[in-house]
Amino acid sequence: MPEPAPQHCPSPVELDDLELILSGAVPGVTGFNQPGSILTLALPDAVSEAATAAGAVEIVDPEGLPLARVSWPAGEVSVLAHAAYGPFRNLHLTPAQHREANAGRTVVPVADALTETQLAVLADLGPIALLALTGHGTPSLSPVGLIRATLAAAELLPDAVVVTAPLADHADAEADHALGVTVTAAYAGPDPIHAIAESLVETYPSTIAAIIDFDRPPVDRQGLVLFFTGLSGSGKSTLARALMDLLLEQGTRTVTSLDGDVVRRHLSAGLTFSKADRETNIARIGWVAAEIARHGGVAVVSPIAPFDETRQRVRAMVEEAGGAFFLVHVATPLEECERRDRKGLYAKARAGEIPEFTGISSPYEEPEDADVRVDTTGRTIEDALEDVLAELRNQGFLDLHGPDLNGPDSAGPA
Ligand code: ADX
Repeated sequence: MPEPAPQHCPSPVELDDLELILSGAVPGVTGFNQPGSILTLALPDAVSEAATAAGAVEIVDPEGLPLARVSWPAGEVSVLAHAAYGPFRNLHLTPAQHREANAGRTVVPVADALTETQLAVLADLGPIALLALTGHGTPSLSPVGLIRATLAAAELLPDAVVVTAPLADHADAEADHALGVTVTAAYAGPDPIHAIAESLVETYPSTIAAIIDFDRPPVDRQGLVLFFTGLSGSGKSTLARALMDLLLEQGTRTVTSLDGDVVRRHLSAGLTFSKADRETNIARIGWVAAEIARHGGVAVVSPIAPFDETRQRVRAMVEEAGGAFFLVHVATPLEECERRDRKGLYAKARAGEIPEFTGISSPYEEPEDADVRVDTTGRTIEDALEDVLAELRNQGFLDLHGPDLNGPDSAGPA
């Protein structure tokens, strides 16, 4: 009896690509990993092995619904169920469904919110179908934001309908452009295509402007993750705490603290300090921080987070959620952390009583992508914090003033 096909939930880009393949939007492409196609599926080693043994892999959506069977290693796709999740599902028509419903309309591919100038041109085209190309990773608006903006545009036009197709970003400008052309042509069939000219002046009708503002808020309302990494005893919790207090005093943002030691008492209770458990710990912190950022909040997080790759993953999760990621390397040297040894842990680690102690018997990979690097040796917290605030101001994130800058008119006691 053959092995059962393993299940795999692919990346968001791969899920978009699967939908393109299944909808027939790329004529001639019937599977992943075909020569000359950028629609690729990569399986983790263990899944790939099991898929090769079984001759296939079953692709499931994030909630575990089987969507397709992909022969492996050939990559041929056969449908099990059509994606049922995601906002505006009813606007995801296949090219065939679109041609049946909207025959005779000029197809207008849309990848960004439409400006007033562009709308004026479209208003004179007669019946049109706005094809919102809403794939994962495209820069301007989120997929749902682009559909909302396109629906708002259709409201302002004399005769427009909205259809959407997932056109993800594969980080290959030329190939991505070619794919967009192919997909648009598949939707248009015999109907004409109108390519939108770029607007030099970007002014938007108010309904569209409001959608853009909600989808991509300005930096002072954008979610923000302030990530402090450094050795135990480096001062990262103290700095993070001081910054959090300033944010609370300012009172314009909601703030959540995710301190390393505190997280380990709740969210990560029971995890050890092995490499795998540290990665799990940081992945959990990253997941929560990304959700906070998605809601426009500020997360101040301060775990040791010794591994570069794990920190990078958190950055990606946060940016994916529409948040900004700001990395502070609290670079107090090991000798100073060990000299302070406020918790007595270094002494125990040296005595061999604590295994895998960061800096002693477990590595710390210095970040190369820090926005600020602060060594707290011989400095007050206020002074060290000022370095962080200066860079935050410099990047336009927060207009925060240190406690020593509150000035003579601050209400507190002198
Ligand atoms: S991380 O590596 O997973 O990011 P985290 O910040 O959560 O570490 O926890 C670090 C805290 O746990 C330290 O401040 C220290 O108080 C305590 N701790 C206990 N054992 C260890 C260890 N082996 N290595 C580092 N910190 C430890």
